[in-house]
Amino acid sequence: MAVTTTFKLSLFFTLVSLSLSAVPPACSRIECPNYDLVQAGNGYEIRRYNSTVWISSDPIQDISLVEATRTGFLRLFDYIQGKNNYQEKIEMTAPVLSEVLPSDGPFCKSSFVVSFYVPKKNQANPPPAKGLQVQRWKTVYAAVRQFGGFVKDTDVGAQAAALKDSITGTKWSSAIDQSRRAGHASVYSVAQYNAPFDFDNRVNEIWFLFDLESGSSAM
Ligand SMILES: *[C@@H]1O[C@H](CO)[C@@H](O)[C@H](O)[C@H]1NC(C)=O
Repeated sequence: MAVTTTFKLSLFFTLVSLSLSAVPPACSRIECPNYDLVQAGNGYEIRRYNSTVWISSDPIQDISLVEATRTGFLRLFDYIQGKNNYQEKIEMTAPVLSEVLPSDGPFCKSSFVVSFYVPKKNQANPPPAKGLQVQRWKTVYAAVRQFGGFVKDTDVGAQAAALKDSITGTKWSSAIDQSRRAGHASVYSVAQYNAPFDFDNRVNEIWFLFDLESGSSAM
């Protein structure tokens, strides 16, 4: 009896620890966008971001997400260092988001949009800059899977596939498919929270962004 209980308890705690994602450690040092945790599922979590502001690169053509992120990040880093129309410096935030747009075939380059989360202080009036666009998101939902280490081109597809598998058959998958059909172009996004030289406790996330109609059955 006691053995069974202990076993059940340890199984319970194993499941809980598998399904919980932590807030990335970087967010205790620098500003990250706030969100509501809608559901902590098994291998995924659903978040709601109410109204976030991003400064985004124009689409970058590349065969590599890692290279495109580097290109976009250097441009955005200049921007926060004051290379913008107001010569205004902006505090570093996290994550840097690399949005993967659909490509036409295995030998085609993909397009990536790399974005920096604009701190609250600057959201009312982010400095304009050539080659960068301000994006103001309305309420948006994200299905999220966390993974560690350095982001590699050879891993991100598998991480995205694992996220897709973990939400298949849940109430979220139809909302996600519908958002895609409705022309929300991005295939998925990769959120990176660490500076390039951090070697420990690195946190990355795959995001599937989607909308929920109010009154939708998923709520
Ligand atoms: C987002 O909006 C909802 C509904 O208005 C509110 O209850 C919630 O606290 C907001 N969350 C954040 C993180 O601002």
